Amino acid sequence: MATEDSTHFGFESVAVSDKAKKVRGVFDAVADKYDLMNDLMSLGLHRMWKAYTVAVAQVREGDRVLDIAAGTGDLTRAFARRVGASGVVLHSDINEAMLRRGRDRLLDAGVLAPSLLADAQALPLPDASFDVVSVAFGLRNMTDKAKALTEMARVLKPGGRLLVLEFSKIAAPLAPAYDWYSFKVLPRLGQWVAGDGASYRYLAESIRMHPDQESLKAMMKTAGFGHVDVHDLAAGVVALHAGVRC
Ligand SMILES: C[S@@+](CC[C@H](N)C(=O)[O-])C[C@H]1O[C@@H](n2cnc3c(N)ncnc32)[C@H](O)[C@@H]1O
Repeated sequence: MATEDSTHFGFESVAVSDKAKKVRGVFDAVADKYDLMNDLMSLGLHRMWKAYTVAVAQVREGDRVLDIAAGTGDLTRAFARRVGASGVVLHSDINEAMLRRGRDRLLDAGVLAPSLLADAQALPLPDASFDVVSVAFGLRNMTDKAKALTEMARVLKPGGRLLVLEFSKIAAPLAPAYDWYSFKVLPRLGQWVAGDGASYRYLAESIRMHPDQESLKAMMKTAGFGHVDVHDLAAGVVALHAGVRC
């Protein structure tokens, strides 16, 4: 159980001050094989979940977009095409290895997006400076999720939108099969493809510790999002929370 000085790292209880270092270790270890593993683990479904997020975001030409925990840059790339030359998409992450890999992929795709090494819990960005903020599969890894959501609200303009795409709580009848896949298959796949079973065991555990759909919605409301829509995807394996900054 987490106390004031401790928090969760998957099922493990760790000191608050140690969590970021442990999360960094995970993403340093998986950065090279991150995209391949995403396709294998989700059978390519993550591409559809991200496409759905981009559709809901309704980013317009000229918009200013911040992609937080952007990693290898899938959302950054899609948004950059929509904002055009008059807009900007900031590609941001706390992890240098992930950010570098994302920047290389963006350049290979002909996308010029500025990269920013930053912790979502303390964004070095001015208030009310973005039309849209996105965070895909990143919030789960943050030590203080409430603080991160408050920071996201702070940098959004009034009426701006936050898109949180994250693993969530699967429909109950499917839970046993999903547990078997998460704890028996996933770590083996990670070991086989990326030489790292432990990082993928952390992934499965961190999903179980993440707030469910309703809890995250309540957290977003507390952080300053007056209206929050929840879209369950794949029976709740993943949920998209779309909030409007009031
Ligand atoms: C699973 S990856 C998601 C990458 C990308 N958004 C995607 O959907 O493919 C999670 C990312 O969250 C980043 N991250 C973890 N904690 C963070 C924090 N406190 N601030 C910003 N990024 C963070 C990690 O470095 C990692 O790149």
